Amino acid sequence: MEIILVESEKTGALLAARLIARQIRLKPDAVLGLATGATPVPIYAELVRMHREEGLSFRRVTTFNLDEYVGLPPDHFASYRRYMQEHLFGKVDLLPEKTQVPDGMARDITACCADYEERIRRVGGVDLQLLGLGQDGHIGFNEPSSSLASRTRLKTLTPHTLAANRPGFPPGQEVPRHVLTMGVGTIMEARRCLLVAFGPRKSTAVARMVEGPLTAMVPASILQMHPVATVIVDGEAARDLRMRDYYSEVYRHKPDWQKE
Ligand code: F6R
Repeated sequence: MEIILVESEKTGALLAARLIARQIRLKPDAVLGLATGATPVPIYAELVRMHREEGLSFRRVTTFNLDEYVGLPPDHFASYRRYMQEHLFGKVDLLPEKTQVPDGMARDITACCADYEERIRRVGGVDLQLLGLGQDGHIGFNEPSSSLASRTRLKTLTPHTLAANRPGFPPGQEVPRHVLTMGVGTIMEARRCLLVAFGPRKSTAVARMVEGPLTAMVPASILQMHPVATVIVDGEAARDLRMRDYYSEVYRHKPDWQKE
């Protein structure tokens, strides 16, 4: 696992966007795994800027989002399809048919999840998977106790995650309890994982993910087993890491040929 400590959320978001852009430039028909939530917003904003000002093209890129709420239609203001439309899909030259988000309105959820897996397989797998981190250590919506071998399926959010996602919904409207999410096993098949976590609320989860034991109680800890996992954290999210200074030292002295 490579841990990159950045001085601020802004610097971290710019770096994450640079890594994603680099993947697209290296392989214009790259397959990207995408996340939603608050953390990726400035990353998508920077990718949009690169598209507009630097000619970064998404025309041949395929995307798969990690998750979607069950029961929300794609145009619902809190759906993740709508989020993606607002922050990225609607602002770059991605072809709509190449953007996939699990179908929260699917009648046959099992078939829909199997089809999602099949579609990922058909395009040759995910080249780079962007991840946020839940305060309880989830990736995608694989809550603590999720099987570390799980595939795309229905999950029930914990009360903690329901509360964390509350700000996306108006008072009086319930946060959907159920979601469709790529599994931990699905995520682990991406050729590169890029996890981004900022702020003091993420510090415990970051420490448990990076330095704790590998356990289904912290699904993100499985990234310790991923051959190419990069974790970008700011000082606050990194504050509980015991080997923080070492990670900084490693990054500072990273050989040029290995950078980014
Ligand atoms: C969202 C997702 C979640 C979030 C996580 C952190 O697609 O998969 O794992 O990344 O809940 O959310 P934020 O960034 O809002 O703190």
